[in-house]
Amino acid sequence: MAGELQQVVGNLVVLEIFSVFNNSLFGSIPSSIFNISTLKSLDLSSNQFSGSLHLPWKLSLFNDLEELYLHTNQLSGEIPSSITNASKLTVLELSYNSFSGFVPNFGNLRLLRWFTISKNNLTGSTNFLSSLTDCRNLELLTISGNPLHGILPPSIGNLSSSLESFWAADCNITGVIPHGIGNLSSLLDLVLDRNQLTGFIPPTIGKLKQLQVLYLNGNKLQGYISPNICELSNMGNLYLADNILTGPIPECLGEVKSLRIIYLGSNKLNSTIPSNLWNLKDLIYLDLSFNYLSGQLSSQIASLKALNGLDLSSNQLSGNITSSIGSCQSLEFLSLSINKFEGSIPPSLGNMRGLSTLDLSSNNLSGLIPKSLENLRFLQYFNVSYNKLEGEIPTDGSFVNFTAQSFVNNFALCGATKYRVPHCVDKKTRRSRRKNVVRLMKYILPTFIFVIILATVFILVLMRRRKLKRLSAPADDIPLGISWRRISYIELVRGTCGFSEANLLGKGSFGSVFKGTLSDGLNVAVKVFNLELERAVRSFDTECEILSTIRHRNLVRILGCCTNIEFKALILGYMSNGSLEKWLYSENYCLDLIQRLKIAIDVALALEYLHHGHTFSVVHCDIKPNNVLLDEDMTAHLGDFGIAKLFGEGETTVQTKTLGTIGYAAPEYGSEGKVSPNGDVYSYGILLLEMFTGKKPTDDMFNEEMGLKDCVHEALQENAVSEIVAPGLLAREDQYFSAKEECVSSIFSLGMKCLVISCDERINMMQTVAALQRIKAKVVASTTRRQRYALSNITRGQ
Ligand SMILES: *[C@@H]1O[C@H](CO)[C@@H](O)[C@H](O)[C@H]1NC(C)=O
Ligand SMILES: *[C@@H]1O[C@H](CO)[C@@H](O)[C@H](O)[C@H]1NC(C)=O
Ligand SMILES: *[C@@H]1O[C@H](CO)[C@@H](O)[C@H](O)[C@H]1NC(C)=O
Ligand SMILES: *[C@@H]1O[C@H](CO)[C@@H](O)[C@H](O)[C@H]1NC(C)=O
Ligand SMILES: *[C@@H]1O[C@H](CO)[C@@H](O)[C@H](O)[C@H]1NC(C)=O
Ligand SMILES: *[C@@H]1O[C@H](CO)[C@@H](O)[C@H](O)[C@H]1NC(C)=O
Ligand SMILES: *[C@@H]1O[C@H](CO)[C@@H](O)[C@H](O)[C@H]1NC(C)=O
Repeated sequence: MAGELQQVVGNLVVLEIFSVFNNSLFGSIPSSIFNISTLKSLDLSSNQFSGSLHLPWKLSLFNDLEELYLHTNQLSGEIPSSITNASKLTVLELSYNSFSGFVPNFGNLRLLRWFTISKNNLTGSTNFLSSLTDCRNLELLTISGNPLHGILPPSIGNLSSSLESFWAADCNITGVIPHGIGNLSSLLDLVLDRNQLTGFIPPTIGKLKQLQVLYLNGNKLQGYISPNICELSNMGNLYLADNILTGPIPECLGEVKSLRIIYLGSNKLNSTIPSNLWNLKDLIYLDLSFNYLSGQLSSQIASLKALNGLDLSSNQLSGNITSSIGSCQSLEFLSLSINKFEGSIPPSLGNMRGLSTLDLSSNNLSGLIPKSLENLRFLQYFNVSYNKLEGEIPTDGSFVNFTAQSFVNNFALCGATKYRVPHCVDKKTRRSRRKNVVRLMKYILPTFIFVIILATVFILVLMRRRKLKRLSAPADDIPLGISWRRISYIELVRGTCGFSEANLLGKGSFGSVFKGTLSDGLNVAVKVFNLELERAVRSFDTECEILSTIRHRNLVRILGCCTNIEFKALILGYMSNGSLEKWLYSENYCLDLIQRLKIAIDVALALEYLHHGHTFSVVHCDIKPNNVLLDEDMTAHLGDFGIAKLFGEGETTVQTKTLGTIGYAAPEYGSEGKVSPNGDVYSYGILLLEMFTGKKPTDDMFNEEMGLKDCVHEALQENAVSEIVAPGLLAREDQYFSAKEECVSSIFSLGMKCLVISCDERINMMQTVAALQRIKAKVVASTTRRQRYALSNITRGQ
């Protein structure tokens, strides 16, 4: 919709809900709209309304208004204080406009739940915050991005205990963070970045047990980082960068297992990096740059398999760069510049396939630039300037684009003229002689070592066998990867009541899955492999390999494993809502259209990640409802990687004999045994049709001539989608029938694109995800009249 909102709307005298959000309406908001005395909810958000807001002065005229959404427009002028008389208001969203002047006191609005005025031009004091202490239902309070000045009043601790989000970033707030903040016990997000807050971080912050996000960066906070911060056992994002914090990084921070992102850069921290920190296995980003940290980089860093960015630049770190850093396979950003690192650049850096920035400049590094770095296909920024490096600068791979600027001021680098270094003279002849020796070493030495290792392993295995026989119980465990939890056989026996029938969740070709509880109370699924089947053993190895290298919100998480010669089990996250299969086909369970769409998107995201999110791709090979598991929030997780395939770089297909499931497997899979990501796309297409028709591809109603795919194809041709849709998803009497029908239709059409016979012409998962997101946005926009936009749309800290 585009155009002006006519004065006419005022004539709609008995309207209760008026919503035109997310259109292109412009002009001023006709004041007659507030003359509709029955109006309960008014949503004009995300349009281009401008001018100032004129409300009728007689209170009775909008007595009943409960929700007023005006955010994301171009409204200006003052916020009319008469709003404070609309005493039934629960939602008042004025963010993203150009309101100016003072903020009135809203204390009258006792029922207020969401109050947002972020990103306006509001000035004056922060006194209105005190008045909000009377709003006992307040959940969302955002005032970020206004030139307010003023302090955080001590009464802030008297705000509603139901407050979940308090955002006051970039508001020119001065003074200290009041101790009372610790009273806000429901707080999930506390966002106070880019102000001028002074003083200490109050120790009471440790009382915010629910807190997940803490943004205090860009202030003038000083003193030590209080260890109380380690009491925030749900905290994911910790931003304390750009302050004047001194002293050590608290040792206990390594115990806050929920941490994902840590920004402590640009402070005056002067300890070593506590070794504990490397226990945070789920850490994604760690920034400790621009501090006075000293000591060495621990080899334990190898356990941070999910780490995406590491910035340790501008500190006083010394010693060698540990070669185990090469195990941080997810790293894309690595800066160790401006430190005192010495020794050579570990060739293992060439293993970090996704690396795009590597800055090692301004250290004391010596030796050669490893040739292995040419393998870093995505490397865009590379800097080894101001070191003591020597030898030839590599020229291939990612190095073709680097210039002399990456290599300035070293000891004796040589190579191509574009690097503005001397040619590497005479090296060739010398090298070829050396090469012969090297070749000799390369082939003979490894063979020799290999034989020794083999013999040692053989003896060890023999010894272990004997020992096991003596114990006659599979009592010891060998943790497979250091990043996993060590879980003993005994703990599993206890936790599953001796693998009892009552705890059995399901059986498959590989073995059985049991529900279990670990000693710390954590519920898990224990997948026990049947070792009599060679296939099951292989399946175990594949799952271990794949699940330990990848991690995604929509993949089943591997928590640990228990393995010895007679017993192998994987310990996986427990999915309390069971499989999608159950939800699609058991009575007493049902999923509506949006829920199905969300699950479809979750699965597509998981596949997108598997296929494209990594430098190697993983093909799942067995997409079906049984392998889609739902957690307590109904978020879908793709599981069962027993027959998945890992593709090396450059590989696009492999031949295989392991078959997927009949009905879901792509045609090229059966006929040629050809496995590629496109095969997953096909199975996903079937899953999509199945989810929205409620029919299995193997249903009796289908045959050679008329399969599920043909049936949907025909319905699309004949515009008869509503006839094949799963029962309960579409009802003609539904007020949103046509929007929902269109949605289902788009999903089926998308499914068809996944099911193109020629595997090269199928769309890929990135396109599929994008298409699904569009379909969802459309159906959500046309079937819901209100959205809690604030949390999803405003970028954090604004
Ligand atoms: C609102 O309604 C009153 C009568 O109920 C009328 O007098 C007034 O003109 C209306 N205001 C607008 C702006 O339409
Ligand atoms: C609010 O209502 C009171 C009467 O209840 C009235 O006196 C006052 O002027 C109103 N305030 C505004 C700002 O409209
Ligand atoms: C904000 O308000 C001030 C006056 O209070 C004005 O000078 C300034 O231009 C306004 N800024 C914007 C972006 O509207
Ligand atoms: C908070 O509320 C309590 C009880 O109503 C009151 O005694 C106290 O003074 C208030 N604190 C602040 C800082 O306003
Ligand atoms: C860190 O700095 C503080 C003063 O800010 C000083 O007391 C302390 O000794 C320093 N610690 C180290 C390890 O240098
Ligand atoms: C070099 O830069 C060009 C243009 O920016 C880019 O297309 C190309 O992929 C780059 N090559 C490598 C190996 O990064
Ligand atoms: C590498 O770092 C040095 C020293 O900081 C700097 O002078 C140079 O410009 C940097 N090179 C690139 C490519 O940015």
